[in-house]
Amino acid sequence: MRISPSFGSAMASFFKMCRLHTIGRGSVVKCLQKVDTFLHRNIGTNVVAVQEKNGFKSLYAVQAERQEQAERSVLISCHSMTNEKRFLEYLANYGDIQKYFFYGIYAVVEFANKESIASLFEGTAIPGIGMETMMPFKSRLLSMRNLDSVDLRNQPKKRLAQQSIPINELIQRLSKEESIDQQITSLTEAHQLTEESCRLRFLVCSLLKDIVAPFFPECTIKPFGSSVNGFGKLGCDLDMFLDLDGISGKNATMPKSGLFLEYQMKAAKSERIVTQNILSGIGTCMDLFGPGCVGLHKILDARCPLVRFTHQPSGFQCDLTANNRVAMKSTELLYLYGELDPRVRHLVFTVRCWAQAQGITKSIPGAWISNFSLTVMVLFFLQRRNPPIIPTLEHLRDLAGPEDKSVIEDNDCTFVSDFSKIQLESNTETLEQLLCEFFEFYASFSFQTLSINIRKGREQNKPVGDPLHIQNPFETTLNVSKNVNTTQLGRFVALCQESSWLIQQNKTAPSRGGTEGKATITLWGVSNLLLPSQIEEVKRKQNSSKKQKFEPTNQWIKDMLKSMKATNNQQNQS
Ligand code: GTP
Ligand code: MG
Repeated sequence: MRISPSFGSAMASFFKMCRLHTIGRGSVVKCLQKVDTFLHRNIGTNVVAVQEKNGFKSLYAVQAERQEQAERSVLISCHSMTNEKRFLEYLANYGDIQKYFFYGIYAVVEFANKESIASLFEGTAIPGIGMETMMPFKSRLLSMRNLDSVDLRNQPKKRLAQQSIPINELIQRLSKEESIDQQITSLTEAHQLTEESCRLRFLVCSLLKDIVAPFFPECTIKPFGSSVNGFGKLGCDLDMFLDLDGISGKNATMPKSGLFLEYQMKAAKSERIVTQNILSGIGTCMDLFGPGCVGLHKILDARCPLVRFTHQPSGFQCDLTANNRVAMKSTELLYLYGELDPRVRHLVFTVRCWAQAQGITKSIPGAWISNFSLTVMVLFFLQRRNPPIIPTLEHLRDLAGPEDKSVIEDNDCTFVSDFSKIQLESNTETLEQLLCEFFEFYASFSFQTLSINIRKGREQNKPVGDPLHIQNPFETTLNVSKNVNTTQLGRFVALCQESSWLIQQNKTAPSRGGTEGKATITLWGVSNLLLPSQIEEVKRKQNSSKKQKFEPTNQWIKDMLKSMKATNNQQNQS
């Protein structure tokens, strides 16, 4: 395919980056049709379960596919572009565009072939030197400049849903649903990561890998945590794992005799120090040379050392870790549970959203319950249903084949990866039943004596010490909720008690008749649970009056629930 000279020179006058060969107009039109079809089919659809025809795809397969897509993609800021069609026509000079989408002033463009990226690089200019001098580092984060004068006032801005809808809007939306099950489904749809957000997350990892690759050419940067475990909420952070296993030497076999060569490498006293040094060096590179990486902090003394920064063009808060294979395994496990039954994901999203609205979880670290702990609590609850909705980790380990064997730092991380081996029991509980039961389960759970254990799928006696004990599924001597203090656990229990009662009182959607076109909205079901806690409000007022004598939280909550119930009954009778 060759481009006609007139078409090429016309393009040259519009844009600063330009190449005069490759694709002809016919193929540009074809390419535009292809991307339109893609947009029509895909943009705005949510990522639920990535399924294959004959069952499920493992997280490993999903990640490999998305990584490969990301390597064929570029992220372009388009401050002074005139319109989408000309933008795409310009890029089509470098190869077939497989997919693209815009958000804000940015565009993600995925080429059909990786070679197109090299070709695009050849035609991309280094910024002219003005007041500042450029760092000599080329990346796939580009800017599209237009040398013609253009009127940008009416240019539509496309929005990538990066943040969940505001809580007030969500509450109103849920109130209009017909049943609690529909409310829960609607909440999941409003919160889960979109296809575009997923693609952008993998692209950011791939862009960062380009910065690291000159030092560690065999490395990969993979997303883990909620970006890929199926429980990610729009706006969640991007947890990344720098995988250097290709050059770790762990699986190397030494010859028994004769000559051989080995690499000269710097040594350090422990693996932890190596991890800290690598992250420190890479962190400095990202800070100095990484386009779009801002506000970088090295948090190297943490149990799991990390580099934290904001990737400005995507807006993601990024945490880069290394040597964190157990967290990758936890991600895989959570992904598997989420794929087994759709109720798992729906319940996790609802509980996470409820917890955020009630201030049980927060985006900053502290003595509160983390989203990861909360997810494990939901999984444990689902294992405790009768019959269980999901199997125990021990059962998943028993089903594992030799290819699944995984031992990381003496921790058994083995579990089955072939979904078809997992037989589920036939539990038919509705989402409404499950949500009500979840609150009841934890409202009366004996946190003082028992530990939550998804490996065994039943409560265990709790080791003395921490108020909340949730056994780490793989590093079994660790407690994933070690940070949680008595106050925060008390709040969680009190809010479970309140929510259990609230949802029982407001289970049915109000009838919509008689409003004569007026848009009156009655809060009910899940929407009620997202409002600030009524008990906490009353308690706050009582505390501020300082007249109440102190009573144990549980008793206080019980009395309050009784009085709320009585008021409600009176209202119903009158
Ligand atoms: P959000 O970022 O809050 O949406 O959830 P997240 O699941 O991504 O949690 P977070 O960013 O805190 O942690 C990322 C991942 O690290 C989790 O999904 C887990 O796989 C893992 N992780 C976090 N905390 C722990 C822990 O205490 N123990 C273990 N083993 N893994 C953890
Ligand atoms: Mg996270």
